[in-house]
Amino acid sequence: MTSFRPAPAWLADAVFYQIYPQSFADSNGDGIGDFDGIAERLDHLSWLGVNTVWLNPCFVSPFGDAGYDVADYLNVAPRYGSNDDLAKLVDRAGRRGIRVLLDLVAGHTSDRHPWFTASANDPDDHRYIWAPQGCPDGFVASPGSRPGAYLPNFFAFQPALNFGYARESPDEPWRQPVDAQGPRANREALRTIMDHWLGLGLSGFRVDMASSLVKDDPGKAETSRIWTELRHWLDRTHPEAVLLSEWGEPEISVPAGFHTDFFLQFGGPADGLALRSLWSNGSGTVNLEWDPLDCFFDASGKGSPRPFVEAWQRASTALGSSGFISLPTSNHDFSRLNCGPRSADQLPAAFAFQLTWPTLPAIYYGDEIGMRYVPGLPDTEGSVLGPRYNRAGSRTPMQWDDGPNAGFSTSEHPYLPVDPAPDRPTVAAQRADDTSLLHLVHRLIALRTATPELGPNGSVEVVHAGYPFVYVRGGRYLVVVNPQQGQASYPLGNIRPGRALEVSGVAADGGTITAEGFGYGIFELPG
Ligand code: GLC
Ligand code: CA
Repeated sequence: MTSFRPAPAWLADAVFYQIYPQSFADSNGDGIGDFDGIAERLDHLSWLGVNTVWLNPCFVSPFGDAGYDVADYLNVAPRYGSNDDLAKLVDRAGRRGIRVLLDLVAGHTSDRHPWFTASANDPDDHRYIWAPQGCPDGFVASPGSRPGAYLPNFFAFQPALNFGYARESPDEPWRQPVDAQGPRANREALRTIMDHWLGLGLSGFRVDMASSLVKDDPGKAETSRIWTELRHWLDRTHPEAVLLSEWGEPEISVPAGFHTDFFLQFGGPADGLALRSLWSNGSGTVNLEWDPLDCFFDASGKGSPRPFVEAWQRASTALGSSGFISLPTSNHDFSRLNCGPRSADQLPAAFAFQLTWPTLPAIYYGDEIGMRYVPGLPDTEGSVLGPRYNRAGSRTPMQWDDGPNAGFSTSEHPYLPVDPAPDRPTVAAQRADDTSLLHLVHRLIALRTATPELGPNGSVEVVHAGYPFVYVRGGRYLVVVNPQQGQASYPLGNIRPGRALEVSGVAADGGTITAEGFGYGIFELPG
């Protein structure tokens, strides 16, 4: 098998910023964020120092799942603007050195997509997975003249595109091999979609549910083959574009062809433990199937960075220089950092860690000012996934200012109310205050950008995987973070912290480093 082209050089320096388009910035006063709104806020992004934006789906959709139910892959939803407006945004961002990635919903469409309507009325159409009669477990009855039932991929209104099954079964006649005609048409369609948007100047895609394509696929071998084929095609046709997967298991997804994969709240043999063991404090979005755990970034000091470090070591050893792991602060499906018992004063240490670890950092819009997860919101555009899993709390409007709607001009925004707390953080207030979280994130990004040793290719030596967490980057930079409330010390031996680059509540005395509660420090070791 031929190997892949190396990832485009720009990716190693990427600092991702995830924009939820409906909630970011509204230019025309209809209460819904839009492309022109984002374009008007590019100053914020370039001042912050992020260089790669990922936009959640912005395509024609009935918005039953906030746009993850795509009804037309080649045209944007009118509520966000036109294809031209998107192209203009990409162009204006590009002039400031900011790339834009779109979301590729590869595994399913909306049940209103014309492909599905056609398939629901034509028993010879195999773009979707159809049981010819009855309604087997997990299937949904046909809405059209075609008898039988279709397989959904997520919500019932998101029929799975047919990429085939890895194994056939006489009892399940709907299982088609991966090279049947329907699966081949769908693979071709993915290339057409990618080609369309890359041609408009987009820089790649975050791929939704990337591991879901081929069904009953042990070890994801057949799903991986599809991505390998697509990566080879991309290497030939769009060598500067990247694929970032929502998969949560970089050891599998990157060898399959992705340039980078997220550590997620799910995925891999331990079901998202790497990320959850850092951030998930039992509040916000909680899946009842998760075993309770004490996360590391918690005042109690009962957690440990070990589950994360071990998962990172396994994955990064498997990847070598073939690709990257991405580490999000949170995302549109998961609690924000500022959630439940975690308060704003605990966030600086979290960013000091996230922006100095050898992963690609992804900042979820609003986390840079410490926006809070808002509990108890109504089910909005499919936000509720379980009794304790409401994603709306992480999707509230970006808090630009302290007006009643946070800078959104009407109260009609689908994800209103904004955080009702009278002292909620805003961009305006934090921009004016250089002791704010926003300024710290800005400085940390600048430091990382100016310091290759702090990037994903610099080495890391873990000195102490506990409270405080101590590591050395590139043999030259000492990082200390203490996410618990209590003070913590560690004997550094021969290591002498030199020049303080970004420090709060961390000091060395003799051979011992002491970090106050929620303290952090980045030092340049004496040369
Ligand atoms: C992914 C998306 C999520 C969506 C689901 C179905 O997990 O991140 O928001 O609901 O896929 O497309
Ligand atoms: Ca608008």
